[in-house]
Amino acid sequence: MQANSEQRLVIRRPDDWHVHLRDDAMLAGVAVHTAKQFGRAIVMPNLSPPVTTVDQAESYRSRILAALPADSHFEPLMTAYLTDTISAEEIARGFGENVFAACKLYPANATTNSDHGVTSVSLISEVLETMQRIDMPLLIHGEVTSPDIDVFDREAVFIDTVLQPLRRDFPELRIVLEHITTKEAVDFVLAEGENLAATITPHHLEINRNAMFDGGLRPHMYCLPTAKRELHRQALRGAATSGNPKFFLGTDSAPHAIADKESDCGCAGIFNAPYALEAYAKVFAEEGALDQLEGFASLHGPAFYRLPANEATVALEQQSIDVPECVQAGETVLRPFHAGASLPWRFVGAA
Ligand code: DOR
Ligand code: ZN
Repeated sequence: MQANSEQRLVIRRPDDWHVHLRDDAMLAGVAVHTAKQFGRAIVMPNLSPPVTTVDQAESYRSRILAALPADSHFEPLMTAYLTDTISAEEIARGFGENVFAACKLYPANATTNSDHGVTSVSLISEVLETMQRIDMPLLIHGEVTSPDIDVFDREAVFIDTVLQPLRRDFPELRIVLEHITTKEAVDFVLAEGENLAATITPHHLEINRNAMFDGGLRPHMYCLPTAKRELHRQALRGAATSGNPKFFLGTDSAPHAIADKESDCGCAGIFNAPYALEAYAKVFAEEGALDQLEGFASLHGPAFYRLPANEATVALEQQSIDVPECVQAGETVLRPFHAGASLPWRFVGAA
């Protein structure tokens, strides 16, 4: 990292270790934003139908690359969507052939397109054993789904009732607890060995749960897991800016058409891809920790995934930018995170 008196920050090109790129016209509209800022991204498999086979992942990867300009160097890293019946052989073959970078565990019905997710971790023990043996990362949406559990407690209860037993049963399995939202998650990740890490989104660093109810119902601030109380946001900011390699960047950018958000039953997801790095830079600057941004954004993720850090560098400048109210993605209009606000650091691009 270099920063000089003109307030320019140069870091290795970052990667996004958790993103939803969707498919078809939406893919064509959103992938360019991620590819502009990031060298690689872990692409979520929650399409409809989900990405469960090596063939599906290869074909999805081709569609992503076809949606990008010919001179793009962006590398999509594909994931397999775990179901109750997915075969360990298929997973191992995909990992061995460098198609699958990881597997994603959605508890069934936890979030968007998770109805094919896992109903009980006990049903996939053979898959988890195989993953542990071949050292393939498991990426977890860490929420229980029982309607009896308060929505704001679902991550903490998942840690106690699912993740702890899973760690005990598969101690060598490399796990990323995705988009953590609570102090309990931060503390758990810190207490465990180095094969457990976590991604943190820009929105969970920026908003607490009040943002969903600020003067009225705010559907564009709704995502899953939902933002929590302020004390949790503070814990996440501390973790992200601490320099600890267990925490790294994962935007969870999750676009939905405005009409699908502003609905009687609005979709969960915040679209932050167009200004992702600017959003993180704002937080790190506010915390007086811009010197930790490169580790969080560009170094800790590759180290965990056992990949080289990107060689190329990108620059940010301390210059206010106005985030538009809307971003056009083909025919669809999307509302970006920070819509209508300004951000103090501007992503310049290749340094
Ligand atoms: O808010 C979310 N949106 N959380 C998820 O886990 C899924 C995502 C989506 O795909 O829209
Ligand atoms: Zn996600």
